[in-house]
Amino acid sequence: MSLKDKCTLLEFNDLGDERGKLVVIEGNRAIPFDIKRVFYIYESDSSVVRGQHANRESEFVLINVAGKSKVRITDSKEEFIVKLDRPMIGVYIPKMVWKDMYDFSEDSVLLVLASTHYDASEYIRDYSDYEKLMNESSV
Ligand code: TYD
Repeated sequence: MSLKDKCTLLEFNDLGDERGKLVVIEGNRAIPFDIKRVFYIYESDSSVVRGQHANRESEFVLINVAGKSKVRITDSKEEFIVKLDRPMIGVYIPKMVWKDMYDFSEDSVLLVLASTHYDASEYIRDYSDYEKLMNESSV
């Protein structure tokens, strides 16, 4: 399966009506895991690159609930970029996939749903370590 196929683009149902929009995301229904953690990133400058890590255990879904950003996703062999620019669009990022979030608009609020509680030790923050691990696992 290609990296693009693994990192599914998700389009959530919009239950909006004349009163406004409503998007619901239920763990293990709209996204492929139970949600253990939620965090959001905002007031990141357009020059900032965040993320810059892969996770041994965590799976994520990223959604710009306001504004826009981009996510560069790689497994060290394939790479693609997702534009997050609508509150009902998300991208699923499985374990052991490297991501960089960047090009944040001033009003960007990037919501992240995670499958795990926070554990700093499962983060791989050095890209050359990540490349090595990915090469070893494909041998
Ligand atoms: P970091 O992982 O660098 O954020 P991002 O990948 O979104 O750019 O996290 C920034 C700081 O926040 C770092 O000190 C770790 C801490 N942190 C937690 O304590 N819990 C969490 O769930 C997350 C995502 C970060």
